[in-house]
Formats: sequence, C-alpha cells, structure tokens
Amino acid sequence: MSSPTISPTTTATLEYNGKSLALPVTTGSEGEAGIDISQLRAKTGAITMDPGFGNTGACKSAITFIDGERGILQYRGYPIDELAEKSTFLEVAWLLIYGELPTAAQLKEFHELITVHSMVHQDFNRFFEGFPKDAHPMPVCASAVAALATFYQQPETDNNLRESMIRLIAKMPTIASYSYKHSIGQPFMYPMNALDYSSNFLRMMFATPCEDYVVNPVLAKAIDMLLILHADHEQNCSTSTVRVVGSSRANLFASVSAGISALWGPLHGGANQQVIEMLDHIEAEGGDVQKFVNKAKDKKDNSRLMGFGHRVYKNFDPRAVILKKSCTDVLNTLGIKSRQLEIAMQLEEIALKDDYFISHKLYPNVDFYSGIIYKALGIPVNMFTVMFTMGRMPGWIAQWIEMRKDPETRIVRPRQIYTGATKRAYVPMNKR
Ligand code: CMC
Repeated sequence: MSSPTISPTTTATLEYNGKSLALPVTTGSEGEAGIDISQLRAKTGAITMDPGFGNTGACKSAITFIDGERGILQYRGYPIDELAEKSTFLEVAWLLIYGELPTAAQLKEFHELITVHSMVHQDFNRFFEGFPKDAHPMPVCASAVAALATFYQQPETDNNLRESMIRLIAKMPTIASYSYKHSIGQPFMYPMNALDYSSNFLRMMFATPCEDYVVNPVLAKAIDMLLILHADHEQNCSTSTVRVVGSSRANLFASVSAGISALWGPLHGGANQQVIEMLDHIEAEGGDVQKFVNKAKDKKDNSRLMGFGHRVYKNFDPRAVILKKSCTDVLNTLGIKSRQLEIAMQLEEIALKDDYFISHKLYPNVDFYSGIIYKALGIPVNMFTVMFTMGRMPGWIAQWIEMRKDPETRIVRPRQIYTGATKRAYVPMNKR
C-alpha cells in the first residue's frame, strides 16, 4: 500500500540552558503532530521524561488510527463499526497485514492457507501435558507460541516470514482450545477443515471424542465480530512489547509470545476476566453497585472500576459502544437473561453520572461488555483474555512486519534519570 507522504511541516523551538534548539515537527495523515526530539541528547545532553510514554511517539505507522477525543478507531482507514458489521475476521487480518481489503481470490487463498496450517505438531501434545492442570491458559498460550519457534527455525526470508505469520493466525485457535482442554482434563480436539475460523475454534473448545458439537452460526458470528474489534489498537502495551522485542531482531514467534504475556496484565487484556469477577463480587456482596463505585473512587482503596478508563479514549471507546449493543442482541437471540449484564448497566449508569468519573474522563472500554458476551457464548472466564489474544494476533503481526521493514527502526533502548547512590567505596564484609 502506498502511504500518504509525511513530511516535516514546521518546527518547534526548545530553550534549554541558554541554548535554542529547532525541533522538526512531523505531521501524520490525519493531522496529528509529533515533535521530533531524536537529536535532543546529542545537542543538549538532556533527555525527555515521560513515564508510561503517554506523550511519546515510538514510530510512524500506517496501520491503525485512533482519535481518543472523538472516539474514532480505523484499521487502514476503514471505520471499526463498518468492519465489525460487514467484514470477517480473516478479511480484517488480511487488511491489517497487507494494507488493502483482499479480493475474493486473495481471501479464498488466505482462508485455505489458514485452514491447512491449523494443526499443531503432534509433539505439542506432550508439551501441553507438562503444564499443571490448573495452569491459567494465558501463560500456557504464551509458552506455546514461543515454542513454535523451536518447530520452525528457518532463516528470516520473506517467504518464511509469510509462513510464520500464516502459522500464527492458523494455530492460535488450536493452541487456545488445547490450553482450555488441558485445564479441564479433556482430550484435545483436532481442527476441522470444513469449518470457518470462528466455528472451528468453538468446535475445538466444546466437542469431545464422545459427542460432536454443532456450531450455532449466531455464536460463530458473534465470536468473529469480537475478534475483529480486538484485531489492532496501535501502540498499546502488548503491541509495543511485540515491537520492542522485535527491534532486537528476535523472531516473530518470540516477539508475539512476549506480547501475549503483556496482554495478560489486569490493566490491559486481563481486564475482561477482572470485569466478570468484579460483577460477580458485587452480586455476592448483595448487589450494592453504589458501594462498589464509592470504593473505586476512594484513593485509600486499591479497587478500580475494571473495564473503565483508557489511556487514549477520553469520551467513549467505539468498541464498547458496538459491544454494548451486540451484548443485548446476542443475549436476546440466545434467550439468555444475564444478571451480570443488569449489574453492568447499573454500574455504567451510576458511574457516568458521577463527578469523579466525569472529571477523570472514565468511560466503559472494550473489556466492560466483552466478558458478558463471552459468558453468554459459553466461553469460560479464564479464557476471556485468550480470546483477546486470538483477535490481536493479526495486529501484532502487521505491526511487527511494519517495524522490521521500516528503515528508521533501531533497537529500542530508552534512557533513564539515575536517582541511586553516587560513587562510593566497597565496604568489606567484616566492616558492615
Ligand atoms: N477506576 C477508578 N479510577 C480510575 C480508573 C478506574 N477504572 N482508571 C483510572 N482511574 C483514575 C486513576 O486513579 C487516576 O486518578 P488520579 O488522577 O485522581 O490519581 C486517573 O484516573 C488516571 O489514571 P491512570 O492510571 O493514570 O490512567 P492511565 O491512562 O495510566 O491508565 C487504564 C489507563 C486503562 C490502565 C486505567 O484507566 C485502568 O486501570 N482501568 C481499569 C483497567 C481496564 O479496564 N483496563 C482495560 C483497558 S482497555 C483494553 C486494552 O486495550 O488494554
């Protein structure tokens, strides 16, 4: 894809220690400006401080655009709501990786490739057996993806890279379902080539050798839509991790495995499991939603309203808007009444009228409603973040490839301001 030309349009001036430094400003295709400080240390001896990198642009990227103030999310220019409604996960995966929507022939070939690569090596079964029975599926998935690097050790040519990327997308549902089957002590189910991506995953999760599982197309469609909503989100914690690890020229499997570990954290992808646990906790404590909201506001209490707040979205998360609607649709279609949805809606109503949440610009994020749908679809709670992982896979791959092809990429190596002891003499043991 040819990306719009990005060129310095103006300069910013920095005054420091009596010196003036002109800094070029780079403007993106949607108008955001970045002050280029790459010469700052060389010219002034100083570095910038930005804990959590809230103001730091680490790369230029043509994949995903987010406007957090206006609640806009676009993959390669296409609005997320249109993709969620009209596309399929594999079509979106292609779009993210190759930059354009696929033709029918390209999508057919892609689908066939994903299908034929969905089995994992038989030796993988023994690998899974080594994990404790109560192992959380997320570290199991991270380990399994890292282990793929031991099965595919070819040099990094374009062709091998293409195969690695196909393998990752193809095998992720198999690895995810194996991690679940292992945790409940059931035999692994092999993928079935006749099924589409999401149906195949559902069958591998819920079929047993004794009884096949007939996939409800409503469920498969809902899973596919959820995967699309999670497919990329520009430079978030896990994607930045994938880029950071890849910047050392580590291979794709190793980089993505690190991303899975980052995603597991409760402030990132792990929040979807935490949301359901929070809703269950509120219910178990008698359903007093206001009491929990007060706890979340209390700075002496560690509780946060899980599924609320976002580093980038400051008015609404467009993914949460889509999910709230589809939550009601899916539950109605399946004829399920969910106490968790009732509590979630009360929680949202109270929080959105509360001065604390208004002034802190805290709104429901993607994880607030996704867990309720997963629950309704029968996905076990400890698999929620694995679902996020499956969805995010094409985004991580697209970002990793973009990083590796970018001539401006350097190994990521931030600086620090040292605050420890200054130089002192070693004290022998008998004098301490
Ligand atoms: N409940 C209560 N207070 C909150 C919350 C919350 N969920 N989120 C932020 N705050 C407060 C925080 O205490 C701080 O208050 P103050 O300025 O008075 O000290 C202020 O809002 C700013 O918080 P922050 O932690 O500096 O904000 P951040 O941009 O670093 O963190 C966040 C963003 C998503 C980690 C955070 O909002 C949070 O912890 N949310 C709950 C976890 C969650 O739902 N995570 C999923 C994010 S969406 C999926 C993904 O892409 O990862």
